Amino acid sequence: MDIEAVISEVLQRTRPSEEERAFVEELMEELEGIANKTIEELGLEVKPHFVGSLAKDTYLAGDHDVDLFLAFPLETPLEELRKRGLELGKAIAERLDSYEIAYAEHPYVRAKYRGVSVDLVPCYDVKDWKDVRTAVDRSILHTRWVNENLRGRNDEVRLLKRFLKGINAYGSEVYVRGFSGYLAEILVIKYGSFLGVLKKADLILKQKIIDPADWLRKEPEVARKTVEREINEDKPLVVIDPVDPRRNVSANLSWERYGIFYFKSGEFLEKPSIEFFFPAEKPWKNYLEVLRERKTALLTLVFEVPEMVDDLLLPQLERSAKGLEKALEREGFRVLGWNVGKTEKAFIMLELDRAERERIKLKPGPEFFTQRGRRFYEKNEKVWIVGKRLCSEKRVKENVLDVVIELLEKGQVSLGRGIREAVKGADVLLNYVPKDVEREAYLFLSREKWNLKD
Ligand code: UTP
Ligand code: MN
Repeated sequence: MDIEAVISEVLQRTRPSEEERAFVEELMEELEGIANKTIEELGLEVKPHFVGSLAKDTYLAGDHDVDLFLAFPLETPLEELRKRGLELGKAIAERLDSYEIAYAEHPYVRAKYRGVSVDLVPCYDVKDWKDVRTAVDRSILHTRWVNENLRGRNDEVRLLKRFLKGINAYGSEVYVRGFSGYLAEILVIKYGSFLGVLKKADLILKQKIIDPADWLRKEPEVARKTVEREINEDKPLVVIDPVDPRRNVSANLSWERYGIFYFKSGEFLEKPSIEFFFPAEKPWKNYLEVLRERKTALLTLVFEVPEMVDDLLLPQLERSAKGLEKALEREGFRVLGWNVGKTEKAFIMLELDRAERERIKLKPGPEFFTQRGRRFYEKNEKVWIVGKRLCSEKRVKENVLDVVIELLEKGQVSLGRGIREAVKGADVLLNYVPKDVEREAYLFLSREKWNLKD
């Protein structure tokens, strides 16, 4: 298939239909009406703003969650904004189908309406970056900037987002550390098109700094500080936020995710196919078979975790996995890799070079001039005297299960703070995993999980 054919087929599946568009527009109108009415009833001075990909018309077909931001006047004290914002969110959500409270920097309401998820997020009504007070305040500015600069290239963004999703590099959440929707939009604006961005995958990395709003000239001191800070932290890329010179839009982008993009871009341009955008699920087989072939051991900890969002949980699991890796290496096991995640329960798995270690253990004996001393002398192959006692040594085999359990009991593993107690109470399994993580175990052990080549 040539590249045009691939792109047109992908667009067919990625661009929302007229029907979906109409539904989304109607939904937004309804929501705006409900929000305005509720604001008025509560006597608040709040402006509702749609942000995110719906407001920018860069959402993918079938993926149209609503972000409705509730902008409070700048004079509102932060405490007041939190309290009134949550109240308002709840009052709006009462008129929708259902809702729950979600937690980010401050609490907000996540509602459901006509089958669509609607986030009701309080923020400040900022005019420019100097007013920004909370992490979500920039979104309204982002929306405006993208709408002013995208100039009809919305489908190019859709292609890039779909591509990034397909290669598993989309999403700025902590557990992905990939490209955010906003970053994809900026790249398309800067390089003109989906293919334009892909062709520059190498150049972008070499140039390192993207400054679409010319902050380095307009606000050199602030912008330079941002660049310096991000370069010092060895970020793959510094994209000075067009609406805020203090922020790197790709601050959460990891080298790993950029690396996937780097390789896959080249491969796609050379050999285009739909698979990049819509990959088939990787085939998998029994993890035990892989384990047998590799002649390694799989240690898995499974445990209940307190309710928390993935953004908080995943880093804690990673920290704990690294702690276990270190502790086990100290005890003489080689750790070949680890993998964490959550299904029903949370899990940490580590692949080890072996399940048992052999160790020489000192064997202190009785005083040499006693009956028991005589027996000790006869029973042991090598015997020597230390002071007036006999001494020998023996080889012992220790199973990694016992080693881990002892390490955890003695508190000799550095673990993620919020899940420390949970990990200590984990079920520790050797060469065996619960049914619902068998696939994860296979992908991990076969390294298909991270394999760049397929
Ligand atoms: P979303 O993650 O929902 O992105 O963030 P999106 O643009 O709507 O894309 P999709 O289609 O849902 O995946 C909503 C807004 O939050 C801000 C941006 O302003 C974005 O438009 N945001 C989010 C960031 O600035 N950085 C991030 O890492 C995430
Ligand atoms: Mn969104």
